[in-house]
Amino acid sequence: MNLVALVCWLLAFTNLLIRGESSNAICKENFKLDPRPHSVSILEFGAVGDGKSLNTLAFQNAIFYLKSFADKGGAQLYVPPGKWLTGSFNLTSHLTLFLEKGATILASPDPSHWDIVTPLPSYGRGVELPGKRYRSLINGDNLLDVVITGDNGTFDGQGAAWWEWLESGTLNYSRPHIIEFVSSKHILISNLTFLNAPSVNIHPVYCSHVHIRKVLIETSVDSPYVLGVVPDSSDNVCIEDSTINVGHDTVSLKSGWDQYGINYGRPTTTVHIRNLRLKSPTGAGISFGSEMSGGISDVTVEKLSIHSSLVGVAFRTTRGRGGYIRNITISGVVLAGVETAIVADAHTGSHPDDEFDRDAIPVVTHIVMRNFTGEDIGLAGSFTGIVESPFTSICLTDIHLQTSSGTWVCSNVSGFSDDVSPEPCAELMSTSSSCFAGGSIYGGDTAAQSFYSW
Ligand SMILES: *[C@@H]1O[C@H](CO)[C@@H](O)[C@H](O)[C@H]1NC(C)=O
Ligand SMILES: *[C@@H]1O[C@H](CO)[C@@H](O)[C@H](O)[C@H]1NC(C)=O
Ligand SMILES: *[C@@H]1O[C@H](CO)[C@@H](O)[C@H](O)[C@H]1NC(C)=O
Ligand SMILES: *[C@@H]1O[C@H](CO)[C@@H](O)[C@H](O)[C@H]1NC(C)=O
Ligand SMILES: *[C@@H]1O[C@H](CO)[C@@H](O)[C@H](O)[C@H]1NC(C)=O
Ligand SMILES: *[C@@H]1O[C@H](CO)[C@@H](O)[C@H](O)[C@H]1NC(C)=O
Ligand SMILES: *[C@@H]1O[C@H](CO)[C@@H](O)[C@H](O)[C@H]1NC(C)=O
Repeated sequence: MNLVALVCWLLAFTNLLIRGESSNAICKENFKLDPRPHSVSILEFGAVGDGKSLNTLAFQNAIFYLKSFADKGGAQLYVPPGKWLTGSFNLTSHLTLFLEKGATILASPDPSHWDIVTPLPSYGRGVELPGKRYRSLINGDNLLDVVITGDNGTFDGQGAAWWEWLESGTLNYSRPHIIEFVSSKHILISNLTFLNAPSVNIHPVYCSHVHIRKVLIETSVDSPYVLGVVPDSSDNVCIEDSTINVGHDTVSLKSGWDQYGINYGRPTTTVHIRNLRLKSPTGAGISFGSEMSGGISDVTVEKLSIHSSLVGVAFRTTRGRGGYIRNITISGVVLAGVETAIVADAHTGSHPDDEFDRDAIPVVTHIVMRNFTGEDIGLAGSFTGIVESPFTSICLTDIHLQTSSGTWVCSNVSGFSDDVSPEPCAELMSTSSSCFAGGSIYGGDTAAQSFYSW
C-alpha cells in the first residue's frame, strides 16, 4: 500500500478524537471517537523499525511537526508494524498516537537515552531514590486531548535491566515509567499491550478526564515494584475492561507523599474502575496509598477478578501522611488464590525525608465492600488502624470467603457487617450502621447509578 492510500485508509477508519460527551472520563456505555483530520507515518521522519536503530529523533521530529496541526483539529502519528527502538519523547496536544497491529515501541535499555528530570512537587523527591528521576518513555506535560491507541500494538519497556539495577543498588535515579501524563486533560489510552515496564506502566498525575480501556499489562512475576496503572492526584478517571499482571500492585490510587503531598493538596477523586482481571503475586489487585497525602475519595470499583495474588484489596497509610481515604465503594470482586483478601494497614510506607509531621494523621472512613466471593484465601481480612484515628464506617456486606484460617485481624477499626463469612471480628459487627445513613451512596446498591450523575 502506498503512502497516500495508507493515509486515506487511516482517515477513513482509525483517526480518532474524543469529543463532547464522551470526553467525560467516567466510564460510559456509549464510547465514541471522531477521526483526526490529518495523519503522518513515523516512516516519513526516517524511523527504522529493525529493533536496533534508535528512533528518538524521528519521534521527536514527528511530534514537533504535528504540533502545527493542534489548531486544525489535531493529527495522528501512525506507527506501522515493526520494532521501533527509542529513548523517551514528549507528546503534544490534539494528538493520536496509533500503534498498528505488530507495531512495538521498544524502550531503549541505555539510561543515557533517558532525560533526567526534577521530582514531582507532591513527592518532593524520586520515589525510589532521593533526588531526580528519569523521564518516562512517553510524556505528556500540560496537554489537552491526547489519544494513545492502536490495534493491540505494544509498548515494551525492556525493564529487565532496570529491575536488576534497582535490586543491585546501582540505579542512579528513580526508574522511568512507560507513559506519564502531568497536568493534562482528556486523555485516552486503549487497545494496547504493555510489556516489561521498568517501573510504573501508566501514570497520570495532576490530570483530569483520563480513560484507560482494553489494555493488557504484563511483566514477569519477579519484576520488583512494577505497578500497572497509578492514578495520582487526578480526577475523573475511568479504568475498564483490562487485564493486568505485574510484580507489584496492578491498580494503585495515590495522591502525594507526606508534607509534599499535603502542601500540594491535590486529591485523587471521582474514579470509576470496572471489569478488570488482575494478578499481583507480591502486591495487591487494587490499592489505595500508601502515598495518599492529598486525599483519595469518591471511588467506585465494580467487577474485579483478582487471582494468584498476595492481597486482594489494600488500603495503606501511615502516620505523617495526613490526607484521607474515604467514600470508596468496591463491589463484585471474585478472588482466587489470594493470601489476604482485604488489608487496611495504617502502619505501612516509608517517608520521603525526616521532615514529615508526626501529627499528620491520615483518616480512613466510609469504605463499602460488597459482594465479594473468594476461594483458596489465606486470611479474610486484616485491619490495623492508628489509635488516634481508627478506621471508621468500614462496611462489609455479602462477603463469602473460603479461608484456611477462618479469622479476621482487627485493631483500631469500627464498622458494620451483614452476611459475611467467615464471621468478622466484633469491631466490624456494630449494629447501628453509620455506613448506610441518610440515603447516601454508602448502601452500595445505588453506588453504580449515582456515579453517573456526579
Ligand atoms: C519535553 O517536555 C519537557 C517539559 O515538559 C521539556 O523540558 C523538554 O525539553 C521536552 N523535550 C523535548 C525533546 O522536546
Ligand atoms: C494483544 O497482544 C498480546 C501479545 O502482544 C496478546 O497476548 C493478546 O492476546 C492480544 N490481545 C488481543 C485482544 O488481541
Ligand atoms: C550510575 O552512575 C555511574 C557513575 O556515573 C555509572 O558508572 C553507572 O553506569 C550508572 N548506572 C546506571 C544504571 O546508569
Ligand atoms: C478498540 O478495539 C475495539 C475492538 O476490540 C474497537 O471496538 C474500538 O473501537 C477500538 N478503539 C478504542 C479507542 O477503543
Ligand atoms: C461521598 O460521595 C457522595 C456522592 O458523590 C457525596 O455527596 C459526598 O459528599 C461524599 N462524601 C465524602 C465524605 O466525601
Ligand atoms: C456479584 O459479583 C459478581 C461478580 O462480579 C456478579 O457477577 C454478580 O452479578 C454480583 N451480584 C450482585 C447481586 O450484584
Ligand atoms: C490500637 O493500636 C495500638 C497500637 O497502635 C494498640 O496498642 C491498641 O491496643 C489498639 N487498640 C485497639 C482497641 O485495638
